[in-house]
Amino acid sequence: MAPRLAPLGRRVLWFPTVGSTNDVAARLADEGEPEGTVIVADAQTAGRGRHGRVWVSPPAAGLYTSVILRPPAGALDLMTLAAGVALAEGLHAAGGLETGVKWPNDIYVHGRKVAGILAEGGASPAGAAHVVLGFGINLLPAALPPEVASRATALETELGRAVDRGLVLAECLAAIAARYGQLRRGERAAILDDWRRRARSTFGRGVEWNGPAGLCRGVAEDIDSGGALLVRTASGRERLLAGEVRWTS
Ligand code: BTN
Repeated sequence: MAPRLAPLGRRVLWFPTVGSTNDVAARLADEGEPEGTVIVADAQTAGRGRHGRVWVSPPAAGLYTSVILRPPAGALDLMTLAAGVALAEGLHAAGGLETGVKWPNDIYVHGRKVAGILAEGGASPAGAAHVVLGFGINLLPAALPPEVASRATALETELGRAVDRGLVLAECLAAIAARYGQLRRGERAAILDDWRRRARSTFGRGVEWNGPAGLCRGVAEDIDSGGALLVRTASGRERLLAGEVRWTS
């Protein structure tokens, strides 16, 4: 295992095609697979995004990857924010692309999404609780279905040249390993500060979400120490923990 990747990458399993790398990782985690195993696929036939959306995953047009982690309970709340910062750092290290994050963990460049993260938790019968950290990075515009093409972009489109997908994967895994280490050591402020810096352009923007009493609107102001989005509304400050937030400005 390369030292920069530790504890990730002790085992890397590559598949030409799977349903979803998250499903493969979850099954292995249930069977007691140790932390750090990485599942990579060239294509997914049932790739999924957050909120039940489809993550279109044609062959070789994107990086479809899942990592098995077994974080301490105190680290769970910042897992996806830490992963968002890490992916942004990995993309920069691999190709020099500067990206921003949008709560909770979308990766954007010039207002278009280039990568997304789906973290799914479970309790393995054979071991401790696990998190499957799945991420998809658009490498080629071919990955983008027409209905999202206007809101998405791809790494090669932004860089104007071909990218070495192995390098992108390695740098993203190294960055995830580094941020995960910080999280395990309790260095939460560093993660929160770097996330805020990358999200600066989203603070002050309008958001809407479906609350218990219907549609709610407000302006995103900040995140708190647990990674919740803080939103100013007409009736005060709301703290959004999860769920779908739509950006309206
Ligand atoms: C999102 O932005 O909605 C999250 C997208 C996550 C996609 C990745 S691709 C690898 C892993 N396997 C999946 O089925 N989903 C994640």
